[in-house]
Amino acid sequence: MPPLEALIREVIAGEGPMRLDRYMSLCLGHPLHGYYMTRDPLGERGDFVTAPEVSQVFGELVGVWAVAAWGAMGRPAAFHLVELGPGRGTLMADILRTVRKAAPDFAAAAAVHLVETSPVLRDKQKAALGEGPSWHGQFEAVPEGPMILIANEFFDALPVRQREKRGGRWHERVVGLENGRLVLGLGPEVPGGEGAEGAIVEFAPEREAVARAIGGRLARHAGAALVIDYGHLVSAPGDTLQAMRRHRFVPVTEAPGEADLTSHVDFAALAKAFRAGGAEAWPALTQRDFLLAMGLVPRFEQLASRATLETRATLHRQMERLAAEKEMGNLFKVLAATSPGLGMPYPFGRP
Ligand SMILES: C[S@@+](CC[C@H](N)C(=O)[O-])C[C@H]1O[C@@H](n2cnc3c(N)ncnc32)[C@H](O)[C@@H]1O
Repeated sequence: MPPLEALIREVIAGEGPMRLDRYMSLCLGHPLHGYYMTRDPLGERGDFVTAPEVSQVFGELVGVWAVAAWGAMGRPAAFHLVELGPGRGTLMADILRTVRKAAPDFAAAAAVHLVETSPVLRDKQKAALGEGPSWHGQFEAVPEGPMILIANEFFDALPVRQREKRGGRWHERVVGLENGRLVLGLGPEVPGGEGAEGAIVEFAPEREAVARAIGGRLARHAGAALVIDYGHLVSAPGDTLQAMRRHRFVPVTEAPGEADLTSHVDFAALAKAFRAGGAEAWPALTQRDFLLAMGLVPRFEQLASRATLETRATLHRQMERLAAEKEMGNLFKVLAATSPGLGMPYPFGRP
């Protein structure tokens, strides 16, 4: 039995069933046995592949977006370039390489701050980016000041709670023990609104707290934030909590700490939290629409024009993975939040 499972069973035996947010934060973030604390899960040989790991073009286009945001901020001579959950540091490395060439004033003004809890991934980030960045355990530790913030597949890793309607009443969903196995079940009654019998509704106070804190920062200092994640544009009931191991879905109570646990981001709730913090949040786009508007196709064509036939096929495949409707293109969404009065960031539309 994985050590974390033994520990979780002990806690449940002693204290009773635990809420999903506690289960999820133990699985992902337990200091010794948490999923992210013990491994680098990214890549074809790991558990999942993220957009920056698919192609350098993803980071290049995010870099172009960041330079435009810096222009709208009045080109401050010093600002914080912040990334939440930077994985292997690939996205930031691609952004920095792009801006050093295309916008050296931006590159000179940027102080890089990485928010990362995993010691394993911090080491990878150091290998990719050197000692230049500052590392922090949470967003609140990033110093105050003008800021451009990027978060790709960060919010989906923050814990969620679920409530389920049974017998006309809402109950917290919990992880308990039944016949010696970890199982999902119903916990204490909790408040909830309308909903059909059997409906499951997710809510994510931790995600919203981070978005509110970022919103507050954007209200106090000029800046912009770009959040990319898989999720839905409109809040809707549904259980989206999932566990993934070696590119396959497994039950969420199987092998805690050994599988990645995520849930879809509710972009409407996230936008509301940015606004509650004091920022403007613009209606989210699909990753496909965002990347196409940022010049995905011409950039890939440029790379293909000087590539061998074989590499051209690989480049085409990468572009498809990022933007095709059946791949990451529609499942992933992109949300921008800005300081009030900064204006609409391209390519986002008006509410
Ligand atoms: C799915 S990976 C995404 C990595 C990277 N952004 C990419 O696109 O390749 C999630 C990242 O968030 C980090 N992370 C997870 N929970 C975190 C938390 N509560 N605070 C800070 N970082 C966290 C993980 O260690 C990892 O770097």
